[in-house]
This record gives sequence, C-alpha cells and structure tokens, in this order.
Amino acid sequence: MKLFHSLWLLALAGALSAQTYSKDVAPIVREKCARCHRAGGIAPFPLTNFRQVSAYAEDIARVVEERRMPPWKPVEGFGEFRDNFGLTAEERETLLAWIRAGSPEGDPADLPPAPPDADSPWHLGEPDLVLTAPEYTPPPEAKDTYRCFVLPVGLGETKYVRAVQALPGNPAIVHHVLFFIDETGASERLDARDPEPGYNCFGGPLIPLGIGSGLGGWAPGVRAQPLPDGIAMLLPRNARIVMQVHYYPQGREETDQTRMGLWFADRESVAKRLVQIPIVNTRFEIPPGADNYEVRAQQVVFPFLTGHAITVAPHMHLLGKEIKVEVIEPGGQVRPLIYIDRWDFNWQGFYTFTEPVRLRLLSTIRVTARYDNSENNPHNPHRPLKPVRWGEGTEDEMCLAFLGVVFDAEFLAPL
Ligand code: HEC
Repeated sequence: MKLFHSLWLLALAGALSAQTYSKDVAPIVREKCARCHRAGGIAPFPLTNFRQVSAYAEDIARVVEERRMPPWKPVEGFGEFRDNFGLTAEERETLLAWIRAGSPEGDPADLPPAPPDADSPWHLGEPDLVLTAPEYTPPPEAKDTYRCFVLPVGLGETKYVRAVQALPGNPAIVHHVLFFIDETGASERLDARDPEPGYNCFGGPLIPLGIGSGLGGWAPGVRAQPLPDGIAMLLPRNARIVMQVHYYPQGREETDQTRMGLWFADRESVAKRLVQIPIVNTRFEIPPGADNYEVRAQQVVFPFLTGHAITVAPHMHLLGKEIKVEVIEPGGQVRPLIYIDRWDFNWQGFYTFTEPVRLRLLSTIRVTARYDNSENNPHNPHRPLKPVRWGEGTEDEMCLAFLGVVFDAEFLAPL
C-alpha cells in the first residue's frame, strides 16, 4: 500500500512537471524557430502551432541533437551577440524532453501571447526609406548566383543610417543580402555592361571599397538591429547603394524583387560614425589534399588609436572549416570576438556585440581560419584537387573578417 502510494505520488509529480507544448515549448519555438519557419519564411515548412510542431517532432529531435537547427553559428561563450537565436542548453533539453515524453499539448490557455510584430515584415516599424531592386530571375540551373543591383538613392543630402533590412520578394530563393555604398559610379558601369538587371558578383560588389563602403547585411533569421545610440553609418549625398543578393534557385525558375529598408538618425543625435575595417590575408596557398590547413590574418589596427568594436562579420568561401577572431592586447592578453567552429558558407552574418568591445592602444586583431582542401569536403569545387589561393571567384578562397568599429578620435571617421 505504501509502495503504491509513493508510485502514485511519483507519477503525479511527473505529470505536473512534464513539459507541454503550450507552456514550455511554444515560447522557444516562437522565438528561435518561427522567425524562419512561418508562412512566407525561408524555411520549407512553418512551425507556428502545436499541430505543425508535433508533426515534425522526430525531425526536430534529430536536427536539434545534431545542432543543425537553429542555424546560429557563433560558439556559445566566445563573444556575446545581440538577438542570439541559438538554443541555450536548457532550451535544447526542454525540446528534447518534450519530444521524448510524446509531445503533449498541455493547456492552450498557457500559450504565450502572439508576438506583436508578427504581421509587419519590417522589424523596426515602417522604414524611413524603402529602395526596390529591379525584378530578376536567376538562372535555375546555376546552384548559386550572386547578383548585384544598383539602387539610386537620390536624396540630395547626407543621411545617417541607424539600421538596414532586406525584404526578399521571394524568400524561397534568396539566401542572404549585403549592402555597399558606391560613391564612384563603378557599379553603374558594370550594370550597363550586363543586358539583364544588375551584374554578377560572387566575392564582393567588384567596386573600389573603403572603410565607409560597408552598409551591413542581412541573413535569414537575423532581425534588423539598430546601432547603439549615438552611432550611425554614413550614406553620402548622391551615393548609390549596391545590393548583393545571393540566390539559390535549386532548379526552380523563379523571379525575385528584393526591397531594402533604411532607418535614419538625426544628425544631432549622432556622435560617431561606424566604419568597417577588413582584417585580411591575401597571400596564402592551401595545398591540395590538406584537410585542416591554417591561415592567419593579423593586423595592428590600432597603432595610435583607440575605439570600440560594434559588429563583426567573418568571411571565407567553400573550403572554410572554422574561423576565430580575437583581440590581442599590448600586454599579450587575448580576448574573444567570435568563433565559428562549423563554418557553413550558406549561413553567414553580421553579428552585433551585446556590449561594444573596447580596443586599446596597440591592440592587434587576429583572424585564425582553417580550411579543408581534401576530397572529403563535399563543398570542395575542385576535382581534381588543386592549390587554392585568395580570389573573388567561387573556386578561390578568402581569409577575412570585417570589424565594424568606432574610433575615439573623431577626425579618423568624420561625420
Ligand atoms: C535562420 C532561419 C532558420 C531558423 C531560425 C530555424 N530554421 Fe529550421 N530550417 C531552415 C531552412 C532554410 C531549412 C531547410 C534547409 C536546411 O535544411 O538547411 C530548415 C530545415 C529544418 C528542418 C528539416 C531538416 C531536415 O533535415 O529535414 C527541421 C526539422 C528544422 N529546420 C527545425 C528547426 C527548429 C526546431 C528550429 C528552432 C529550434 C529551426 N529549425 C530554426 C531555416 C531555419
């Protein structure tokens, strides 16, 4: 009798503590999955209610265990970023325990309130300016197409940009989008040479780039992030914006027309200009067959200046395995900026630090990248294998990180 009693108590405790969809799982899935897995999102199916999530329970357990989903790349504990949509260890365990327990729904009254911005495609409300690229149909037989579109801004005055966002017209084929400022007109000449809208541009926009050329980017799942108060990017009077779109049509003949939203700050509220510093090594050769080849880029970016790092964007191509960016202080102390241990060319981002990272006098920025140029790398474009060097083409490599910084000395990046 006594035994029966305790068993009953145990069962009751189990039932009370069991994770349910409504109470425990819905908040996680809404925050970490539904940004892509929703109607019109880039993921192949929505995960926005109990029926959908429970129907995919087995697949979810698999991809969550393999850490394939969500595709948040920075390694936990090595730099901290805003709008981190990776699962915490606790959230991962909650999802898996719920699936092991047979995916119970629980009481729908426990569901969290629907997110307020569910209906607006723009993350920060209506943008101050919307620019629209021409319609374009990427060749369906090409696996990847990088297309640059020239967007005339035509405002006649300098603007201070607080945030940008891309809104793909056809999320099924748009993989990610980068923005660049062209003050030279070079992009217009490239566009004129190509009979179709825009021009092909794999590695970058193929125009002269300076520290003020980067205007950020957008990858699926990433919410537009306003820069910290008092910081803005400069959009000079009469500049054009080059929008680089990565398409992956996967055999489908589909048309896209991507839009760009910009949010501006008032001139008076801006104290610092964000600029992009490339940390780069262009002189390397990855031998054929090497499956863990290290390349370093190291730059004393702050020989006589101090400032703060606001964003970071590591970049390699298809042989990339992992990439780490660190600050080495003059005393030798190493501080983490970002570490991506399972590089995936298809999931790249601009990451914004939770807190600006102090860059002291004589700090060195170090990028350590590793590449797999062996036959075991399924993304290796070379058969037969060959030595691979720096270049703009899909088949070339890069060892690069963009650090978005503000300087303490204003004359270095005048407003
Ligand atoms: C940044 C966008 C994004 C986020 C966030 C995201 N997914 Fe995905 N998911 C995708 C895309 C795109 C695919 C299809 C391509 C692929 O498999 O990479 C996919 C595929 C999947 C698949 C099918 C994979 C297979 O092998 O069949 C599952 C299951 C899945 N996601 C679950 C989740 C879960 C659970 C979460 C949240 C914990 C999540 N995803 C978050 C974009 C996302």
